Amino acid sequence: MPTYEISPNIFYVGVDDRKTQFFEGIWYIPDGISYNAYLIKDQKTALIEGGTRIDFARSFFNNISSVTDPSNIDYVIINHMEPDHTGTVPLLYKFAPDAKFVTTNLGKTMLANFYGITEADRIIVVKENDEINLGKMKLRFHMIPGVHWPETMVTYEETQKILFSGDAFGSYGALNGLLFDDEANLDFYLAETRRYFANIVGLFTRPVQNALKKLGNLEIKMIAPSHGLIWRNNPRKIIEIYDKLSRYENENKALLLYGTMYGFTEELANYIARKLISNGVKVIVRNATFVHPSYVLGDGWDSKVIVFGLPTYDGGAFPPVYYNAYLFAKKQLKNKYFGIFGSSGWSGKGYLKILNLIKPLGWNQIDPIVEFRGQITKEDLVKADTLVENIVKIIKESS
Ligand SMILES: Cc1cc2nc3c(=O)[nH]c(=O)nc-3n(C[C@H](O)[C@H](O)[C@H](O)COP(=O)(O)O)c2cc1C
Ligand SMILES: [Fe+2]
Ligand SMILES: [Fe+2]
Repeated sequence: MPTYEISPNIFYVGVDDRKTQFFEGIWYIPDGISYNAYLIKDQKTALIEGGTRIDFARSFFNNISSVTDPSNIDYVIINHMEPDHTGTVPLLYKFAPDAKFVTTNLGKTMLANFYGITEADRIIVVKENDEINLGKMKLRFHMIPGVHWPETMVTYEETQKILFSGDAFGSYGALNGLLFDDEANLDFYLAETRRYFANIVGLFTRPVQNALKKLGNLEIKMIAPSHGLIWRNNPRKIIEIYDKLSRYENENKALLLYGTMYGFTEELANYIARKLISNGVKVIVRNATFVHPSYVLGDGWDSKVIVFGLPTYDGGAFPPVYYNAYLFAKKQLKNKYFGIFGSSGWSGKGYLKILNLIKPLGWNQIDPIVEFRGQITKEDLVKADTLVENIVKIIKESS
């Protein structure tokens, strides 16, 4: 993308990544992601973020060069050390020889460990409320540890009231020529925001709440995160979304996550979905074998009810469903009701492995567990009807 002045003397110099299949080696990103970076030209020149993944170095340096020669950079502000934003730091170290890397105390250790950068005169360590004066513009730093790495901070430009928020308020999705919230199809980006939140930031809801409290004191005209859209029209919107997601606020809907080998469990999944929908419940049906867990985690994050359907497999839970439940546990999803159903051949009880996984999360179980042998019988359908009735009650109670 050619550089673009997003605000007077502040330029977008980031890149789109449409070739990485799995962000952080786990999370499927078929619609890409952007690594945003911003160049501020004042008496001093500051680059916000250490850049991009190393694979995009050429485009990134071309973007910088269209505004100024990289050797003119005085400050490289590292909001967070993850290599999706710092892969290009070793190149900046070389091609911006006067630049000082601005980071937190722990970030300084990471600079040494990740990239062998240790010279004291190339590093500025900042703490809460420290400021760097660029001439007319002023950058102030606020620590938001744990969102989502321990050394994370944000950078606030005081004269134009722009928050460079790093991963906070970020989203998946390449920008594809877009930059601003008012230019975008928000339905797509907000779905990608929820998925990004659940995958990347979700475990750190308390740090997010702490950050929101701290940043709530700032007057913010624009939020410029390091992934996804820049919020100039309605920055409140992305703050509200992060607030809601980090408070585990649910929508009145059910996620029906199932897996099947030969279709018996799937038949009951279809039956339950239809019954729920005919009772006015919004349902998302996901086959765990086919839908990447990054999406399921996003769907589950704000669903009030999660229903697991799975056959017993080798004395345990069917692995694709188990893996998703494992991620729910790993990411500490809270504030859920759950139900269970599924087919088995002889021993049954594979679902116990799911119960063990989610027990520490304190979810409320919805009775009955509908386990059946082989195909569904009429008696099984009666049990399934009771499960549906109980789900409907829970969803309707809160609407
Ligand atoms: C590889 C494999 C392992 C299985 N392991 C068990 C098991 O340990 N205990 C059990 O009761 N049934 C087991 N079953 C039987 C299935 O749970 C049973 O066929 C069930 O009806 C499959 O449901 P589905 O049609 O939804 O895949 C196994 C089936 C397969 C193919
Ligand atoms: Fe990150
Ligand atoms: Fe990031």
